[in-house]
Amino acid sequence: MERTLAGMVAVVTGAGGGIGAAVSQALADEGAVVAAVDRDEPALAALAERVGATPHPADVRDSSVVDDTVDRIESRLGPIGLLVNVAGVLHPGPATSISDADWQDTFAVNASGVFHMCRAVVRHMRARGAGTVVTVASNAAGVPRAGLAAYAASKAAAVAYTMCLGLEVARDGIRCNVVSPGSTDTAMLRQLWAGGAGPRDTIDGQPDQFRTGIPLGRIGSPADVADAVVFLASARARQITLQNLYVDGGAALRM
Ligand SMILES: NC(=O)c1ccc[n+]([C@@H]2O[C@H](COP(=O)([O-])OP(=O)(O)OC[C@H]3O[C@@H](n4cnc5c(N)ncnc54)[C@H](O)[C@@H]3O)[C@@H](O)[C@H]2O)c1
Repeated sequence: MERTLAGMVAVVTGAGGGIGAAVSQALADEGAVVAAVDRDEPALAALAERVGATPHPADVRDSSVVDDTVDRIESRLGPIGLLVNVAGVLHPGPATSISDADWQDTFAVNASGVFHMCRAVVRHMRARGAGTVVTVASNAAGVPRAGLAAYAASKAAAVAYTMCLGLEVARDGIRCNVVSPGSTDTAMLRQLWAGGAGPRDTIDGQPDQFRTGIPLGRIGSPADVADAVVFLASARARQITLQNLYVDGGAALRM
């Protein structure tokens, strides 16, 4: 069977984590040449070996490191056709007592990291008049969630940046879309369950938290998110840009 992304050079940030690893695997399965980026070097090395990607250790908070990394990927692997922004952090806490350090780190990774990666990659894409960007945000950017103010605000910033970028570069043949996962079984979600709530509470909802639960009745898997990314990256989505695809089992109750 023909592989939908054969030969495409794809950069995936956060590749060492749950969703980033699944995205890297799915892209490689579709024939992409995957450049895996993460600051967690052991996780990155393991992922790279598992899926046949090249590891590029980098911290997306640092724009000069990002610029150098992207230039190195272009010169070693060839023209980047796809950027998938997956790297992210979650520092939960009440809106009135988030520390300055947690707020700044959340924005440095989730918002500035997306900006740094897009700026570095899209200037190469623009010169060639082709390319695709997918930013993995969160359904928390579209629904208020108790205890997630910094995270939700940073993800809303990433969504807005990706959409504005997409508008500016649409005539250059570059499509920019967002995938917004809901609760997905990774280390990040299990960190939230450490407080006592578990999968059942997430699925059924928590009225005291104003959380409505997951209509489809299951926690998402990283592969669910990866499938949406592959679709948006592929030629099957050739007329789709500036869209935000929620992969959350209906949890955000959006029209
Ligand atoms: N798991 C969920 O329920 C869920 C829901 C909605 C959105 N998301 C989003 O999906 C993305 C992936 O999350 P995950 O669940 O796989 O989490 P994860 O913690 O398993 O993976 C996150 C990865 O990002 C990397 N990373 C963090 N900061 C970095 C930095 N400064 N530079 C480079 N790499 C960095 C980490 O090392 C890690 O490998 C995140 O952006 C997250 O916000 C996750």
